[in-house]
Amino acid sequence: MGKDVIVACDFAGKKEVLEFLDKFGGKKPFVKIGMELYYAEGPDIVREIKARGHKIFLDLKLHDIPNTVKKSMSVLSRLDVDMCNLHASGTVAMMEAAIEGLTREDGSRPMLIAVTQLTSTSEERMKSDLLINEPLDKVVMHYAKCAKVAGLDGVVCSPLEAEKVHEVCGNEFVTVTPGVRFADGDIGDQVRVTTPARAKEIGSDYIVVGRPITAAADPVAAYERCVSEFVD
Ligand code: C5P
Repeated sequence: MGKDVIVACDFAGKKEVLEFLDKFGGKKPFVKIGMELYYAEGPDIVREIKARGHKIFLDLKLHDIPNTVKKSMSVLSRLDVDMCNLHASGTVAMMEAAIEGLTREDGSRPMLIAVTQLTSTSEERMKSDLLINEPLDKVVMHYAKCAKVAGLDGVVCSPLEAEKVHEVCGNEFVTVTPGVRFADGDIGDQVRVTTPARAKEIGSDYIVVGRPITAAADPVAAYERCVSEFVD
């Protein structure tokens, strides 16, 4: 599994994101486009960034009835993204339908990964609001196993869960981990954070890094630092 740093391009619009990517010159980092930018600019922003030579993780976290997810995934597949995602809580049937929709006529498809429990959900809230009475880590591992059974490629998880996900689902099952901060950096609103170097030791396959790069005085240097700690 090729390790890579994915830059979370959490910008409000096209102008901001393209100005940011221009700073990288000939370098083409793997970028994550989330709901904010996608809903602001629509599929054209995906096409434009793809045409500039970037790999794209389209982070739209689909969750609906299997038929709707299947048809929506087929649209995303035509956008030629490299990775997309959904909520594992949509059930195995929904995840299987997603794979079907995502698979192109030639058999190729973008990577598909699942959100297990959002890291913003505490065990307490899961119990009181979702009526799930199992420990949070057991739920996360169960959802990861369901994603694997459905044929998905991996999960989004905390770097601190990556090791256990690999134990349970195998080393080929990809872990994509946000919540990464430099040892000397500001953690912002993230709570359970780790450094790129530690994420590498734990076995994350991809780290998703936003503000430590986007808000840095020198974003390209911050990106290079992530790559040298995590990939090289
Ligand atoms: O700026 P920062 O490095 O915290 O950005 C992390 C990115 O990963 C954001 O786009 C955030 O929405 C996303 N993310 C996360 N935690 C999750 C899932 C996604 O921080 N559990």
